[in-house]
Amino acid sequence: MAKKLYIKTYGCQMNVYDTVRMTDVLAPLGYETTDRPDGADMVILNTCHIREKASEKVFSELGQLRKLRDRRESEGGDRMLIGVAGCVAQAEGEEILRRAKHVDMVFGPQTYHRLPEMVAEALGNTSGRGISDTDFPVESKFDFLPEESQAHGSSAFLSVQEGCDKFCTFCVVPYTRGAEFSRPVTAIVDEARRLVANGSREITLLGQNVNGFHGEGPDGKSWRLGRLLRELAEVDGIERLRYITSHPNDMDDELIQTHRDLSELMPYLHLPIQSGSDRILEMMNRKHTGDDYRRVIGKLRDACPELALSSDFIIGFPGETDQDFADTLRLVTDINYAQAYSFKYSPRPGTPAAGIDAQVPEDVKSKRLAMLQELLNAQQISFNQSMVGKTLSVLVERKGREEGQLGGRSPYMQSVFIQAPERLMGQIVDVRIETARPNSLTGSVVTGDFGVLDAHNGDDAITAMEARI
Ligand code: 5AD
Ligand code: SF4
Repeated sequence: MAKKLYIKTYGCQMNVYDTVRMTDVLAPLGYETTDRPDGADMVILNTCHIREKASEKVFSELGQLRKLRDRRESEGGDRMLIGVAGCVAQAEGEEILRRAKHVDMVFGPQTYHRLPEMVAEALGNTSGRGISDTDFPVESKFDFLPEESQAHGSSAFLSVQEGCDKFCTFCVVPYTRGAEFSRPVTAIVDEARRLVANGSREITLLGQNVNGFHGEGPDGKSWRLGRLLRELAEVDGIERLRYITSHPNDMDDELIQTHRDLSELMPYLHLPIQSGSDRILEMMNRKHTGDDYRRVIGKLRDACPELALSSDFIIGFPGETDQDFADTLRLVTDINYAQAYSFKYSPRPGTPAAGIDAQVPEDVKSKRLAMLQELLNAQQISFNQSMVGKTLSVLVERKGREEGQLGGRSPYMQSVFIQAPERLMGQIVDVRIETARPNSLTGSVVTGDFGVLDAHNGDDAITAMEARI
């Protein structure tokens, strides 16, 4: 009988990809995925270490799992294996094994290809202490991962690059994910072909520093991301391409030109700047100024005028003054984002910024964050409003919450809801946008044999007036 596997994923898309690949590794051992921990024979938490809040969740979740496991044992059930994977495992593996004795396996993002050996060892382990594998092995896990054991959906992630050598002073990634590594182009193209053969139409290339990609090309030379995107655009069946996450300094001209040339490359780019203050950017070791960023955005918009932009912001980096924060607001106003993520600075153990004395008080961080988010929300709402009356192509990916409703993504990553028959799942359809909400759009399908289908006009649709409040 198949054994049940439940993996809970925290954090970024890299972790989402790793979770899928862990299920591929465990499939030959007879594990099938389930969407709940109770009744599972193995539970893995795939964790995130980026901010304190994300890390803390692991220990509370492990407490819940202990209860579940004890109950299962007292009811005479088989043993439940508990694993902790991802970046918290990498950074705090020993601490986890010490504090949570019921954890059987701890392993990092670079070693999950060895899961079969770890599982065998954990099942035979009677020492009362879990096993750990958090090396940075010389071999690449990609050379050992099996082919995908399942379809990855109409929109799939493909990891092309991992790790980071940039050492921004706030960030744990160089320590949890290790040095930059790019996969060879042929392996990436082969994986993309298999994804398409299994029904994927959109592929998002992933990397902590994806535009720092420098993988070996079929010609033996080092290829940058622009060249890789051109190669992938040639693959039959790939209709949409995206990439995430990029650093402004690696936005080379070849990559910028792909935004002009490739119709498959979606006109949406996540390009984090973190702060609009040159002083803070310097302290963050970002190695660029606000104006450098503005220039890159200018070039991108020249190449692709409809490009929608997104960014990450850290508020309350040590030493951030009112003036620094005002510079961030000014930059946001200048760029005009379609969407963005903003976070309060969270000191991370072992990173240089955590040791700076001038930490910003929590209440100041909160006030600034609220102001920034108000501005960003207003920009997002007006971006969404500007879509009303337009026809957007939508990749239909999932069922909506309401009866007969389906949801998908516009080229600009907006969630779009339509009333449509389920047979449209996995298709790219043209949708006339009728209403805009802060986080989604609704509209009617206008293409294909389907005729015009009624849109759902929800009560919570916003008007331009409300948007301004
Ligand atoms: N505190 C707050 N936010 C952080 N990020 C990374 N490290 C920290 C930190 N120590 C944010 C950055 C990054 C995103 C993934 O998380 O904005 O781009
Ligand atoms: Fe979290 Fe960063 Fe690790 Fe992704 S790479 S899981 S965001 S710490």
